[in-house]
Amino acid sequence: MPAPPPDARSQRATVTSVRKTGADGVVLRIRLACPLPPLRAARFFMLRRADRLSPAIPRPFSLYRTVACAHTDDGNYECELEFIIKVMGEGTRALAASRPGDELLAVGPLGHGWPTIDGAGAPWVMIAGGIGSAPFYMGIQQALEGMDGRPPCKPEDLTLIYGGRHRGFLYELEDFQQLGVRVVTATDDGSAGFHGNVVQALREEWHAGRIPLQVRLLSCGPERMMEAVAHLASEHDLDCWLSLETYMGCGVGICNGCAVPTSAEGELRTWPVVKCCVDGPVFAARDVLV
Ligand SMILES: Cc1cc2nc3c(=O)[nH]c(=O)nc-3n(C[C@H](O)[C@H](O)[C@H](O)COP(=O)(O)OP(=O)(O)OC[C@H]3O[C@@H](n4cnc5c(N)ncnc54)[C@H](O)[C@@H]3O)c2cc1C
Ligand code: FES
Repeated sequence: MPAPPPDARSQRATVTSVRKTGADGVVLRIRLACPLPPLRAARFFMLRRADRLSPAIPRPFSLYRTVACAHTDDGNYECELEFIIKVMGEGTRALAASRPGDELLAVGPLGHGWPTIDGAGAPWVMIAGGIGSAPFYMGIQQALEGMDGRPPCKPEDLTLIYGGRHRGFLYELEDFQQLGVRVVTATDDGSAGFHGNVVQALREEWHAGRIPLQVRLLSCGPERMMEAVAHLASEHDLDCWLSLETYMGCGVGICNGCAVPTSAEGELRTWPVVKCCVDGPVFAARDVLV
């Protein structure tokens, strides 16, 4: 039975800053009580406030990036962690209203991150919808540095297609643009970049010859967007991985709140459902039904 990762722990954290981003988001920066191992992009933490202003059940958030890191003697890091939080309801509203010095309860790092994003095969296209951009920042950094001993990506091996309903949902866009890879923006109302959705934007890039037909896809965003990305991958027989954002209760494999149905043709077919928190949140698109 899948278990939470061995490096996950439950601990207190202190908010060090909160700043607004986009139309309805904040970047929450926290310092954890304990040092951390190196963190793979697309892992996540369960967060809630410690002062009972949050609901009792913590909420899951992808790690956006680590900042102000110092190595400790045992090979770990003392870092501040940043999360991009879109205000949706009670839990995110409480976290967004935090002030420097407030205490949080944090469980993590949880889940497996992105697969190895290497520079040895087809180029990568990362498809982000709104807040689904969060796991791509470190994904791009780690791909350019090299992952798991594989050849690093060159900047031209990576394209980020970043979409949202309007410009206000392209959180931290300038920071993504400073990573040195090509960023294609797409908005439903045409307020930034391509006028349309991310799948239409990719088709347009293909049509214009700016992206080769044979690519590897990574995606994170709203459910309907990932369904469309998975469909596109299957139509063109492309390797594709999705970082799913299901509802979660415990984050550690106990409550069954995050069940994801598996595909009858995929490698996970011996199980009718898998748990997004411990088996994911990243899955090969051909293994799950989204
Ligand atoms: C692995 C993972 C990583 C995530 N990373 C991020 C992140 O980096 N930044 C971020 O802002 N959010 C992220 N989310 C989504 C985030 O956890 C939810 O938005 C949050 O739990 C909502 O809590 P709430 O109490 O504010 O809203 P609730 O009061 O629980 O719900 C308010 C509204 O939001 C809807 N909603 C709640 N959760 C989700 C969800 N998972 N998907 C779609 N709609 C939802 C509800 O249906 C309801 O309409 C992630 C989720 C997962 C599983
Ligand atoms: S969130 Fe509880 S089992 Fe996954």
